[in-house]
Amino acid sequence: MCGIVGYVGPKKASPLILSGLKRLEYRGYDSAGICIIDAEDLTIHKKAGRVVDLEQSVDLSHLTGTVGVGHTRWATHGLPNDVNAHPHTNNDGSIALVHNGIIENYLTIKKKLINAGYTVASETDSEVLAVFIGMLYDSLGNLEQAVQTALQEVDGTFGIVVASTHEPNQLIAARRGSPLILGVGQDEYVVASDAAAIIAHTRQVVYLQENEMAVLTRDGFTTKTISNEETHSVIEEISFELEEIEKGGFEHFMLKEIYEQPITFHDGFRGRLLVDEGNVRLGGLAKVQEKLRTAQRIIITACGTSWHAALVGEYLIEQLARVPVEVEYASEFRYRNPIIYPDDIVIAISQSGETADTLAAIREAKLKGATVLGMVNVVGSTIARETDAGVYLHAGPEIGVASTKAFTSQLCILTQFALYLGRMRDLTAEAGRELAQGMAQIPDQIRSILEHAESIAHIARQYATATNFLYLGRGYQFPAALEGALKLKEISYIHAEGYPAAEMKHGPIALIDEHMPVVFIATKDETYDKVLSNIEEVKARRGTVIAIANEGDHQIDRLADHVIRIPTTLPMLAPILASIPLQLLAYYIAVERGCNVDMPRNLAKSVTVE
Ligand code: F6R
Repeated sequence: MCGIVGYVGPKKASPLILSGLKRLEYRGYDSAGICIIDAEDLTIHKKAGRVVDLEQSVDLSHLTGTVGVGHTRWATHGLPNDVNAHPHTNNDGSIALVHNGIIENYLTIKKKLINAGYTVASETDSEVLAVFIGMLYDSLGNLEQAVQTALQEVDGTFGIVVASTHEPNQLIAARRGSPLILGVGQDEYVVASDAAAIIAHTRQVVYLQENEMAVLTRDGFTTKTISNEETHSVIEEISFELEEIEKGGFEHFMLKEIYEQPITFHDGFRGRLLVDEGNVRLGGLAKVQEKLRTAQRIIITACGTSWHAALVGEYLIEQLARVPVEVEYASEFRYRNPIIYPDDIVIAISQSGETADTLAAIREAKLKGATVLGMVNVVGSTIARETDAGVYLHAGPEIGVASTKAFTSQLCILTQFALYLGRMRDLTAEAGRELAQGMAQIPDQIRSILEHAESIAHIARQYATATNFLYLGRGYQFPAALEGALKLKEISYIHAEGYPAAEMKHGPIALIDEHMPVVFIATKDETYDKVLSNIEEVKARRGTVIAIANEGDHQIDRLADHVIRIPTTLPMLAPILASIPLQLLAYYIAVERGCNVDMPRNLAKSVTVE
């Protein structure tokens, strides 16, 4: 949700900032801008559209400055146009700012600025902050103090980087609620929203902490809190390789990430799953093991795809460990004064580890005394840092805006967590072994589904012009149906709904006619026969059925218009396999419709605003 890059060092800053912005475009891609301090002046270029549109609109090669900032935007306040694009400046153009987040009290500050004779040209909250810093500079005469004082007065969230002609060799960065990482190179620093923009230059990074600010020059950096307390930075190493954030020959990141799943799923259980013992070793949970053993209730909180994974987690934990589980949308949880007991375990699931709603939910849970665990992909992210303990997904960087491999990795971790908890309680070693053996086969089973991608593409091409889709599944496959529908709507803009199959007759059946493709997840489990009856009901109303069914199941052939086969596994592992063809179906439909698969309209990868 908005990408920020800043550079200070000996090199020409503009190419470095532009290549960093391209790596951050998954965070927002409706406008882009750059500011370079050149011959002690600020040169700013900004434009609606993608970074490449900015590059094509103006010749940036004449910018020789070695200090600068850049931004790629996901609009919150104001349309995505040239004026609202970042960087924003103060009134005399001496201070430029890029911002990720929302300044909640910007209207109050704006009023104050206007009363004092300052002007604000754009509709953004970010420009208000830039002008405010300018006003404070006019009275204080010190840039660092002006930034610090302004940030003490603002409510809301920010990751900002400030460049100014008043201190032409310096950048000031600060964060609250939006991530900022400082890459530490040889006489140079790259500050960015995500390590993806840094890794080409250095692997050494400092994660800025909440309410921390940093002043960077070529000669070094200092940090302190916004309220002026001393802080000590720890230099850490980026945990992924540059190739992991390249497309590697695939047409889209999403397709690459779908194809990575045999490996990412395996990485999620490598060194953890003890197949012979029917158990799991989760080192990250060792310190809360006793709390887990006695927990009376688990609450899982998440958003979007991660929330769908949480629903599968509920079924898994209740079945294997017999502990009651509640699944909460993080955005709702925080605002309804949830009842949380001190012996509750609250689990946050998040790919990015930066989702504002999920972060707010865990802060609320911690305030109420719960033990808070994280199941997070991005190492060093805010949720990973703020939870009491946790398990990383180890899925590697996920760049495609639509989450794919992170979802199956979340299911991998949740299955192991449920097994771990179950074995601490009443689950037998034999039952544990059966599940562990099933999990160990999943990577090869995913591979075998991927081998048939072309037949899924063939079905996709036939339905690419549909305007509505229904996705139905029961039990463990109900969350998979929700996830399949979400994938389709976010990348192809086709309206799609996921429902428990048996709920269809309570309303959605009214939608069925010959124009409504219905995707049934009809794998073999205790509800299989009932799902077949639901398929009959759709066929009786001339609906078209695309069924995801097990290999060797020929009962379904006589009912479904199309059958996509997946290998047989335990019902509790079946949503992992079902989600692979659903991802491919959505992908190929979106490609057929000419949609921008990796950067769907209106979306951003990491939602750092509430
Ligand atoms: C859907 C998708 C979103 C995210 C949601 C939570 O494909 O990517 O629905 O799942 O924004 O994000 P994380 O998991 O980063 O907290």
